[in-house]
Amino acid sequence: MRPAGASEMMAKLKILEFPDPRLRTRASPVDVVDDELRALIGDMFETMYDAPGIGLAATQVDVHKRLLVADVSPDKSEPHVLINPEIIEKDGVTVTDEGCLSVPGYYEEVERAEHIRVRFLDRNGEAQEMEAEGLLAVCIQHEMDHLEGKLFVDYLSETKRQRIRKKLVKERRHAPVAMTPGSYLRARLASRAHRSQRWSGRAASPSRSSPNPTGPRAVARN
Ligand code: NI
Repeated sequence: MRPAGASEMMAKLKILEFPDPRLRTRASPVDVVDDELRALIGDMFETMYDAPGIGLAATQVDVHKRLLVADVSPDKSEPHVLINPEIIEKDGVTVTDEGCLSVPGYYEEVERAEHIRVRFLDRNGEAQEMEAEGLLAVCIQHEMDHLEGKLFVDYLSETKRQRIRKKLVKERRHAPVAMTPGSYLRARLASRAHRSQRWSGRAASPSRSSPNPTGPRAVARN
């Protein structure tokens, strides 16, 4: 028996990046909510918080099951786990600057329903329903798109999407591939520092983010 709170060894997972074709996979429903799935949920939260992001779909970590995690609070205090989510009501329209951990460094306006009602299984396999609005509603819709193999860049013009694709492919080509463990670690640390700089630079820009982090203009990186 293990002490409470230390029951799981968590691990960070690799996030697939656009235009990786695996991101286009349609996820299958989860049949059994068991300890193995709960371990994956723990890893997904760790990966999302570390990135940092506000939502992560299993598709993004190359697990093609209908599962997503989200937390739009500023202090990691409102974790949501949605298994086999289904939107049963939606209304209103909201436009948010969305980003995606699978499309690093890009933020574009996307229109979504402002309010949704969603049915899902929780981490104990119990059927639940919840209402969400604002950033949480946007985040859940964004993550549910991932489960369909859809990305936020699909809402942009073909020209814009191709421009993002080319830049990301080029960036990756310049990233080192075959390395010794030591250089791999250094490159990872450097790329993480670079990414968080870009993230804070973006968040600090007054034209792209609202002073109220939950406002409709908030930057949603999920
Ligand atoms: Ni995303």
